[in-house]
Amino acid sequence: MSAVITETALDRFVSKTRALFARESDPEKRWTLLDPILIELLDDPAVQAASKKWPPCEVRDKRFENFLFYEDPDYGFVVNGLVMDKTHDYGVASRIHDHGHLYTLYGLLVGRQGIQRYERVGEATPEHVQIRKTTDSVCNPGMVDLVRPFEIHSEDAAGDRVAAIVIRSAKAGSFLQGRYNEETGAYWQGYGPRQLSVPFY
Ligand SMILES: [Fe+2]
Repeated sequence: MSAVITETALDRFVSKTRALFARESDPEKRWTLLDPILIELLDDPAVQAASKKWPPCEVRDKRFENFLFYEDPDYGFVVNGLVMDKTHDYGVASRIHDHGHLYTLYGLLVGRQGIQRYERVGEATPEHVQIRKTTDSVCNPGMVDLVRPFEIHSEDAAGDRVAAIVIRSAKAGSFLQGRYNEETGAYWQGYGPRQLSVPFY
């Protein structure tokens, strides 16, 4: 009699990430070693099929929504998902920002996305941070992008529909994150994405 295999790609991702975090305590090493584990999840056909059923994320009160698929009880990392399509206006949500103290590993499942990076220029004040664009790249399916704490960036959906899996070092939404205006140098803070619990499969 053969055993029934019930472990999903998400289960494998979680157990491999937990094993990595158990043997590696340095955050920078943890988050740079996570790439191949997330790429394996992105490459799984059942994951790609599941993402077709995820609805587009909404923007309410200028806050973007993230699907909350998993939160680790010991290490605190979360598995988020997001879907952007052309029927929604994400202009506000995709403005230039940072993710506060979080590490974020962004993995694109479907579509194409532009990712822009910025650096701070000169002296900053609590309400003024001058920034300058450093890179402007295109992310294709299967690619991952690491955003370290307080790194300034923006993302835009270059295709019709974008689906992504986003791994964060902790759950976003309950603390303030930086927002930036490249033209005026204005800086302010806002809460990160709302967390909406939805099934992965
Ligand atoms: Fe971001």
